Amino acid sequence: MPEHTPSHTPCFEHPQYADRSPALADAYRLLDSALITYQGKAVGTMASPDPRAPAENYQDCFVRDFVSAGLVMLLEGRSDIVRSFLSLIMHLRDQQEEIEGQQVAPGVLPASFRVVQNASGEETLIADFGDRAIGRVAPVDSMMWWAILLRAYVHSTGDTGFAKTPEVQRMLRMILNLCLQSRFEVFPTLLVPDGSFMIDRRMGVNGHPIEIQALFDMTLRCAELLEADEGNRWLVDLAVRRRHVLKEYIQNYYWLDMDELNRVNRFSTEMFGQDVDNLFNIYPESIPGWVPDWLPDGAGYFVGNLGPGRIDFRFFSQGNLLALVAGLASPSQSQGMMNLIEQRWDDLIGRMPMKLVYPAIESHEWRLITGSDPKNTPWSYHNGGNWPVLIWSLTAAAVSCGREDLAKRAYEVAENRLLRDGWPEYYDGRHGRLMGRKANLHQVWSATGLIFAQHLLDDPSKLERLGFTGTALS
Ligand code: GLC
Repeated sequence: MPEHTPSHTPCFEHPQYADRSPALADAYRLLDSALITYQGKAVGTMASPDPRAPAENYQDCFVRDFVSAGLVMLLEGRSDIVRSFLSLIMHLRDQQEEIEGQQVAPGVLPASFRVVQNASGEETLIADFGDRAIGRVAPVDSMMWWAILLRAYVHSTGDTGFAKTPEVQRMLRMILNLCLQSRFEVFPTLLVPDGSFMIDRRMGVNGHPIEIQALFDMTLRCAELLEADEGNRWLVDLAVRRRHVLKEYIQNYYWLDMDELNRVNRFSTEMFGQDVDNLFNIYPESIPGWVPDWLPDGAGYFVGNLGPGRIDFRFFSQGNLLALVAGLASPSQSQGMMNLIEQRWDDLIGRMPMKLVYPAIESHEWRLITGSDPKNTPWSYHNGGNWPVLIWSLTAAAVSCGREDLAKRAYEVAENRLLRDGWPEYYDGRHGRLMGRKANLHQVWSATGLIFAQHLLDDPSKLERLGFTGTALS
């Protein structure tokens, strides 16, 4: 069983749920063993301390992976670590202004960093801005997660002083500027390249993926942390207006239920002009065969991607769940999404919550879309694998719309199996019955996701305490 032994002081003196179950006790131990320190202070967590992990950078602290750990820290009295993490990431940004003669876009934050010690014990920080990453993917979501965690920090601690420091203000302005820049676009959504978020490999997720749109909305919300002065007013106003149109757009055009599908199925095409039904010139022939059979009555979801002539009908869990938490879904859409999860339980939850993407792409589609990626074979890894970390977003979504029952059921599926299997990164197969072929063990966000889910099940109002739902910061 547990083989992770921390070499330093544990994260929490009295971890809140360590006595609740052997799985939770072990999850805290894993968190302790993964703490990264810099200049004597804890500043982050490794993605996985497993020495046999398939890629070298699993020992890095990934910004997106740290978020669930950070949220637990905020709830259990270690906001100091979160603050150190947020400061360190800002500092790294200043370190790296250029990638081979090409300016790093202001605001772009690293996917991950590590602390390296030389022979005399001196510590240096090395960051990956996409210039070292497998496939050289751009970590667009890092700046968004950074801003979201900052907001959670300020909400839960009340430390507005930190948000008002010139460095944080500058960083926030950079991020918002970058997100709100006008480009060659007519949509209110944000255009990104393939692999720019949790799915950080080629998976046909370029364009306007739902996960990035949900994170975009949460990032725009962080404009409220900007000082209310003349210089910032335009940026704050723009963020407010953009959130408004983004929400309307997502609710109207990304949502798919049987009524919508019926409309798409009878769409006229090649329509020019202002008041047309088929805005994106979607061809009904593009509806994949699985959709009408799979989509239950009274249920629905946000499609994975939308653009000219394109609907990606796949169900992407993280994007859908975060969109719900962010408040992008209407109340009836939220219920519809929960109904979908309930009625398609075996497909979406199966033996490990939860499927990252449903369904998998196969044969020639897999070859064309993934570039024949052997890690992303059908029903594995990003291509239809089940990812334990999603338990926290599932729980957050479920408790924020009154479906704790689903979150509890899912939690029970995950808890003991994760302990028994040693916290794998992902599972394979249609129903997640196999441990992932290349999954490393001791994956930290699989553990911190479970702890955070336990917090939310125990007291759903913690979501509000962290600023995810409810009122703006006054
Ligand atoms: C993989 C995942 C990515 C995660 C990283 C570290 O690259 O796709 O989302 O951040 O591993 O766990």
